[in-house]
Amino acid sequence: MDNHASEPASFWTQANALLRKNLTFQKRNAKTNVRLIMFPFVLCLLLLLLQKLVDNQLDKDKYKCGCTCTKSEDGQCLEKVCGAQYSDLDQVGACAVPNPPEWPPVQQVPAPNYRAVSADFISESDLPNPSCRSNGSCPITMLFTGNNQSFGQILYRNMIPSNFTMNTSNVMASLATDLLGSASKTENTNFLESAFFSGLPVYYLQKQCTENSTFSFPLQIESYSIQQEVTCAQVLPLWRNSPSEVNNELYKGYRKGNSERQINEIAAGYDFLNSNHNIYNVSIWYNSTYKNDTGFDPIALARVPRSINLVSNAYLQFLMGPNTKLLFEFVKEMPKPETKIKFDLASLLGGLFFTWVVLQLFPVVLTSLVYEKQQKLRIMMKMHGLSDGPYWMISYGYFLALSVIYMLCFVLFGSGIGLKFFTKNDYSIQFVFYFIYINLQISLAFLLASMFSNVKTATVTAYIGVFGTGLLGGFLFQFFVQDTSFPRGWIIVLELYPGFSLYRGLYEFSQSAFSGDKLETHGMRWGDLSDSTNGMKDVLIIMFVEWIFVLFFAYYIDQVFLSGSAKSPFFFLKGFQKKPLSSFRKPSLGKQGSKVFIQMDKPDVSQEREKVEQLLLEPTINQAIVCDNLKKVYPGRDGNPEKFAVRGLSLALPNGECFGMLGPNGAGKTSFINMMIGLTKPTSGTAFVQGLDIRTHMDGIYTSMGVCPQHDLLWETLTGREHLLFYGRLKNLKGSALTQAVEESLKSVNLFHGGVADKHAGKYSGGMKRRLSVAISLIGDPRVVYMDEPSTGLDPASRNNLWNVVRRAKQDRAIILTTHSMEEAEVLCDRLGIFVDGSLQCIGNPKELKARYGGTYVFTMTTTMDHEKDVESMVQQLYPAAKKVYHISGTQKFELPKEEVRIASVFRAVEIAKRNFTVSAWGLADTTLEDVFIKVAHDAQAFEKLS
Ligand SMILES: *[C@@H]1O[C@H](CO)[C@@H](O)[C@H](O)[C@H]1NC(C)=O
Ligand SMILES: *[C@@H]1O[C@H](CO)[C@@H](O)[C@H](O)[C@H]1NC(C)=O
Ligand SMILES: *[C@@H]1O[C@H](CO)[C@@H](O)[C@H](O)[C@H]1NC(C)=O
Ligand SMILES: *[C@@H]1O[C@H](CO)[C@@H](O)[C@H](O)[C@H]1NC(C)=O
Ligand SMILES: *[C@@H]1O[C@H](CO)[C@@H](O)[C@H](O)[C@H]1NC(C)=O
Repeated sequence: MDNHASEPASFWTQANALLRKNLTFQKRNAKTNVRLIMFPFVLCLLLLLLQKLVDNQLDKDKYKCGCTCTKSEDGQCLEKVCGAQYSDLDQVGACAVPNPPEWPPVQQVPAPNYRAVSADFISESDLPNPSCRSNGSCPITMLFTGNNQSFGQILYRNMIPSNFTMNTSNVMASLATDLLGSASKTENTNFLESAFFSGLPVYYLQKQCTENSTFSFPLQIESYSIQQEVTCAQVLPLWRNSPSEVNNELYKGYRKGNSERQINEIAAGYDFLNSNHNIYNVSIWYNSTYKNDTGFDPIALARVPRSINLVSNAYLQFLMGPNTKLLFEFVKEMPKPETKIKFDLASLLGGLFFTWVVLQLFPVVLTSLVYEKQQKLRIMMKMHGLSDGPYWMISYGYFLALSVIYMLCFVLFGSGIGLKFFTKNDYSIQFVFYFIYINLQISLAFLLASMFSNVKTATVTAYIGVFGTGLLGGFLFQFFVQDTSFPRGWIIVLELYPGFSLYRGLYEFSQSAFSGDKLETHGMRWGDLSDSTNGMKDVLIIMFVEWIFVLFFAYYIDQVFLSGSAKSPFFFLKGFQKKPLSSFRKPSLGKQGSKVFIQMDKPDVSQEREKVEQLLLEPTINQAIVCDNLKKVYPGRDGNPEKFAVRGLSLALPNGECFGMLGPNGAGKTSFINMMIGLTKPTSGTAFVQGLDIRTHMDGIYTSMGVCPQHDLLWETLTGREHLLFYGRLKNLKGSALTQAVEESLKSVNLFHGGVADKHAGKYSGGMKRRLSVAISLIGDPRVVYMDEPSTGLDPASRNNLWNVVRRAKQDRAIILTTHSMEEAEVLCDRLGIFVDGSLQCIGNPKELKARYGGTYVFTMTTTMDHEKDVESMVQQLYPAAKKVYHISGTQKFELPKEEVRIASVFRAVEIAKRNFTVSAWGLADTTLEDVFIKVAHDAQAFEKLS
């Protein structure tokens, strides 16, 4: 491997590497992508289908203007006439009305039970006695005010007729001089005047009602003739001194609840202001809430024209005398052609359905992010030199591109099949809206990804969120929006939840499209945004601000909690702090605490410590790793004492050395490695890798570091070659150097032949994954490599192969290797350290260790139980210094001091023994590393128990 990538990879090289990896990854997920894109297609098709069904229904005769056959032959209709007269109530709305009927004008009056009477909550005493409500004879109160009372009185006397005129040969003309009133509610057109159809009584208003107070006359409406009955209703005009009094009384009479005693409705109020002989200046109170709420459309007519004519007529009579009349003969709607009932389902359901479609992307982005977190791939990439900038840029840009394509498909397809929801509204507004929203959604996914560590939980939560948001939006939030009495401020607060702002935006689109379709105009335009009832502007502003905020916050959280070298929450202030002048710092004087430790250290360990101190004072470039009294203490939790994982480790590792770390499980090896690779921060002490401090310059260290973690961190759907290409690019390998390095690397770990390199890593056996991990850790010529049990799970052949790779690799770099295999440690490592309970127990090369801790032969003999004593006495006789270290059911182990033992005499003794009793097996062995390990670990633990 001579492809030295001396320079760390630039921002764009890293970005390029990540982008290529992501694209390959996405290509593998083609099925998921297709399914994702299909979702809006299917939903749009479903809507189209439903729309067709609705259209089909509405196309039936039931909803068309009614017709009748005028000429038929043999059951065949030859001539048909259609019109309102042949229609039922469902049909009549669709009929052509070429010549709308004329209706006598009507004044709105309160129903008898609601008319104003004197009551305790009203101070005015001139109102009628409440007893009139029992027989429905309450007068209709009208209030008057103005600057000149005598003038006002003249006017209102002119307004209220004193007799009822009826010329049956000219009904309309004579009704114009009368004043008709009705308590029926108004419709939204004047094709039908509900006063004559609602079944409620029609009144004629008089100053005073006489005994015989009911009239009946024929009313001709087009071709219909109805016999209309009218009843007398008395009008009570009351003078008030100021407009505020009128106002107050109207206000107090407002219907609150349904208790009749609390209601005091007044038909109308007139303020004559400064009117006099020369000035006509009047303002009128009328009740615009008198409309039929059961109708679909909120627009309804209020019967105002009659009120205006009434007072105008009175003024004219005041000026010109009682014979002058300003007649108001009829009201008539504009003609209209036959219309079709239209019902745009897509626009109506749009809010809910499309919320789901757009939100659908959220779980996709979230799970993808959480996957990399759960599999620790993010940290793995970081450890191999991927910095945060390229990671964020590419991941964000990548999801943005995915979302844009998705939304584009959605809008294009919806428009293609002609859904009004898309075609009616201005596309530029739609683009801006969706663009801002998907950005917000991606930022939100980044933010939430930090709260999940498990893909399944994230997926389930996200989907519950998606469907819940849609339903809550459709069945709760929408009612708040429609309810005009719901405070707008609270709507804004609700819209701070992105799901609701999305819902609101889509709702506005659907409303605009729906009414645009119904009124045959366009939907939303930019100009409509300034409309106060249009919530789009607020939504756009809220989403934009939130996007910026969430993005910043997500980046911040990521930096503080996720990034390998857990940064301080105020990392962004780093620029203001003073940078260390030299990477190596002088050993601090305040080390008295650790001196205690030194006294307990074995000579080899304290020698290493002294070497480190020396190195810190006079740094040399030859040292790859220098650990200076590194400590890690986990704080006590739930009443447990603090856990000392690493208790002051000092270690110096020159280039080209492979250091093996042995130790029983839980000794603190992994804690040590985690500190070195930046997963956790040391509690105290530090380490320098290539002269860079792990506490402050982890990012720099990452560019020249390789890690083979204990558990393989691989993308299931990427091949071995793709993994190596990706990490190679991260290490700044390019072009032919890259291909060559990858190929060599694959060959060296035996993954090159038989197409293994191009199989998905998910399909690899455990051993293959292991080898790939080792190859990854070595690619791009890192200066320092950490290998956590690299050969676990390998067959002997691959293991030997792997050892060769590591042996070759250690020539010019430092390797720290943890292992449980003594054989491996002996073969690979130049030096070994045995790590027990957080501290090094011994350090040295394997031979030294064996000499120091071994120095004995191990003699083993197996006999039957009853001869155990014989064996023991035989050994004691031979070597009085022998020590029994082990015995179980006839098998005994003795340590014999090396300097005394002569192998020939041992053989001889065994021969003699065999003659005396049966020896099933025996052996004599030199100490192995294993024996050293067991001994050191045992002694350390015994010491631990003592202290
Ligand atoms: C009030 O109106 C009456 C009738 O028009 C008029 O005679 C009188 O002068 C007016 N009073 C004032 C103060 O303008
Ligand atoms: C009634 O109306 C008809 C037609 O306008 C008119 O000829 C007749 O004189 C009117 N009758 C009275 C009593 O005003
Ligand atoms: C409101 O309209 C419905 C149908 O259009 C009608 O049945 C009802 O009587 C109306 N109510 C009033 C108070 O006019
Ligand atoms: C106006 O009409 C509505 C609906 O009929 C009624 O509830 C309300 O009390 C009326 N307001 C006044 C001031 O009379
Ligand atoms: C009508 O009355 C209002 C309110 O008092 C007043 O501001 C306005 O000037 C008057 N108009 C005329 C033409 O006098």
